[in-house]
Amino acid sequence: MKRTKFKYPSPSETPDLEESLNTEAGSQFGFWCLNIIWTLTLGTFALFVGTGCESTNANQSQSLAPSTPAIASTNALVQSCLLCHSTREMQRGPIIDGLPAWYIEDQLTKFMTGVRGRNSTNKSEFLMGSGVSLIKSDADVETVVTYFSELPPANHLKTVRGDATRGQQLYTLCATCHGPAGEGREDIKSPPLTMQEDWYLYDQLVRTKAGLRSRAQDDPQGLLMEQSIQGMNTQDFRDVVSYINDELSGRAKPEPAPTN
Ligand code: HEC
Ligand code: HEC
Repeated sequence: MKRTKFKYPSPSETPDLEESLNTEAGSQFGFWCLNIIWTLTLGTFALFVGTGCESTNANQSQSLAPSTPAIASTNALVQSCLLCHSTREMQRGPIIDGLPAWYIEDQLTKFMTGVRGRNSTNKSEFLMGSGVSLIKSDADVETVVTYFSELPPANHLKTVRGDATRGQQLYTLCATCHGPAGEGREDIKSPPLTMQEDWYLYDQLVRTKAGLRSRAQDDPQGLLMEQSIQGMNTQDFRDVVSYINDELSGRAKPEPAPTN
């Protein structure tokens, strides 16, 4: 893999994990979850992997059964990513299973160089700004990129409701960069949209429009994306994500019937 050289963030530049956990994202978790994540920073997290804990975030806790291979066979670094990136209940980050290697590597480089993840007003991105400090070398990048890109994409529950027919019309704009089938375009570093959970697609559209994703001045691709959706509102985002879910991804399963 060809990789641009980056400077690993020094501890003073890296947002403090515990501090992040006391923010918005941290409040979504119970005491034990906080303990588990904190334990991660002490390097003994392996003992706790698999304990599970209750997330109070409705969207993120609705994942289907784990699709990841036996966690025991993966190394400690991968396990630390899985604390936030698995379909286990302690999940707080997006599912990245099956995303192409070039995209995962590109995003990790953006987090490592501070293009993403240094803006503390974007709590979720800031949290990953801490998560990426687990990566200490090029070999680490290789390990996690290989692991996640080789996983089969995961199914997920449909949580975003919109008008998919209207979304199809809106998608013509997206198709220019993300491909007519949502397959992505490596040449312009535009990711596929068929593997991510719908809540994450929607969430990133909202954050990107608000200028919260990336530091646009350092990121020509991010800037393109940000500018191209400025004319859209949240209903447009729900509609286009519904179209992606229903027609392109095929991974979103119907919402469970209401229980009340
Ligand atoms: C403390 C929790 C946490 C840890 C640990 C963590 N991440 Fe993340 N990660 C997140 C969150 C939250 C996001 C979503 C950021 C956003 O909302 O902008 C994210 C985003 C990402 C993305 C971008 C996904 C996309 O499509 O935009 C990649 C790639 C990623 N993480 C990989 C990793 C890898 C590899 C590791 C292990 C070295 C790791 N993460 C460790 C929380 C974490
Ligand atoms: C001009 C090209 C362009 C257009 C048009 C465009 N995008 Fe993007 N999009 C990108 C690029 C490039 C990225 C990666 C940005 C980055 O690296 O942070 C991206 C990122 C995204 C992400 C984040 C995915 C992830 O895993 O984090 C979503 C969601 C997304 N686009 C959806 C859309 C939708 C829906 C539309 C149409 C309404 C659209 N985009 C239009 C280029 C574009």
